[in-house]
Amino acid sequence: MSSHGPAAPMTAHRAGPLTGTAHVPGDKSISHRSLILGAMAVGETRVTGLLEGQDVLDTAKAMRAFGAEVARDADGIWRVHGVGVSGFSEPEDVIDCGNSGTGVRLIMGCMATTPISATFTGDASLRSRPMGRITDPIALFGARSYGRKGGRLPMTIVGAATPVPVRYATPMPSAQVKSAVLLAGLNAPGQTVVIEKEATRDHSERMLAGFGAVVTTEDTDEGRVITLTGQPELKPQTIVVPRDPSSAAFPVCAALITEGSDVLIPNIGLNPTRAGLFATLREMGADLTYENERTEGGEPVADLRARFSDSMQGIEVPPERAPSMIDEYPILSVVAALSTGKTVMRGVKELRVKESDRIDAMARGLEACGVTIEEDEDTFIVHGMGAGGVPGDATAAARLDHRIAMSFLCLGMAAQKPVTVDDAGPIATSFPIFVPLMRELGARLEDEAAR
Ligand code: S3P
Repeated sequence: MSSHGPAAPMTAHRAGPLTGTAHVPGDKSISHRSLILGAMAVGETRVTGLLEGQDVLDTAKAMRAFGAEVARDADGIWRVHGVGVSGFSEPEDVIDCGNSGTGVRLIMGCMATTPISATFTGDASLRSRPMGRITDPIALFGARSYGRKGGRLPMTIVGAATPVPVRYATPMPSAQVKSAVLLAGLNAPGQTVVIEKEATRDHSERMLAGFGAVVTTEDTDEGRVITLTGQPELKPQTIVVPRDPSSAAFPVCAALITEGSDVLIPNIGLNPTRAGLFATLREMGADLTYENERTEGGEPVADLRARFSDSMQGIEVPPERAPSMIDEYPILSVVAALSTGKTVMRGVKELRVKESDRIDAMARGLEACGVTIEEDEDTFIVHGMGAGGVPGDATAAARLDHRIAMSFLCLGMAAQKPVTVDDAGPIATSFPIFVPLMRELGARLEDEAAR
């Protein structure tokens, strides 16, 4: 199944306290967008703090294939020489986006209004994910797509030669869909409008404005209406990528569930479209504080301090909060298993089409560790066993999904007996330093292949 080399099983053992400071890598969403918008600007964009995970490296490679120059300096600064919103050239080879849904969907959007064709593929996980959510709206601009049955990769997109602007209501809460439409709108004349019923992460809107596009956002009875004026000349930017709240979630939650822990996670963006997990944890009674709260680059930022919390209570997570914590349900379900009472997560069917079916992946692995689960298509319920109450002693399948692998390794730090994941390799897609960072805090993570 794996396309990153042989599976790398790893076991997490119950850890002593986790203590110290955890500097997590740059934000994945903002890193992809920095490279893509940099490639569509005219001139040199410089990016500091880019996440150098495989997903983002695959996007860098793709931008080169479309004609942009993308290079990393010895000092870790990335330079992107963009070709303009209409300047993409036709790639000579297939674009392999690896494991990254964000990468492939945003890139399909940004080439859809240029008269070139490109064929996209990815690993087994990405080839199983639906692309109709992108090909439907880009067809309205005039692009054509030829994929496998069910709208799966590999897929060829033929960009529109004479694109028209589009007004599109997203059928599901998805920042990837919204962003693909906005990126396609960049090379269409007139105004492209996206309407979303529930607000999703707004990095594309903020960054497009930063690059000099005219983009407005209005909250109306219909939902959030985003209007982009097409065919701007994007101005190159100097970008400092903030640290990723979705990566911070792992050391935060590991500290909350592991006895005696006290961990500081500095400089985490608390953009309200991303910070739902932290609000939820605080409602559950987590000892999670925001220190040194400030504003950086127009975004709220804080240092997070997470301490072992032995009396967290399950809650009903407000379904309207789902878009702001969509990637965090796997690790929340681990915290829920070590809390008292039920944690009820409704309105979460989008989890079924992530890098894996995340409800199924977490449910099966948690059950193997002794936790009681209830689920239906759109609901996930975890019956908590209290702090230290999860037996563990099981192997969970990572299913080519970085967040599933990291979630079960965090569970193993606090379960009574070790927890193994069958493949820790996918962690490199988003959080390549996860293992050394957690070991530095005191985690016991054993590489099974090395034994
Ligand atoms: C992302 C959007 C989300 C999220 C993904 C990153 C983005 O996906 O799960 O990890 O950067 O736009 P959806 O838009 O499919 O919800």
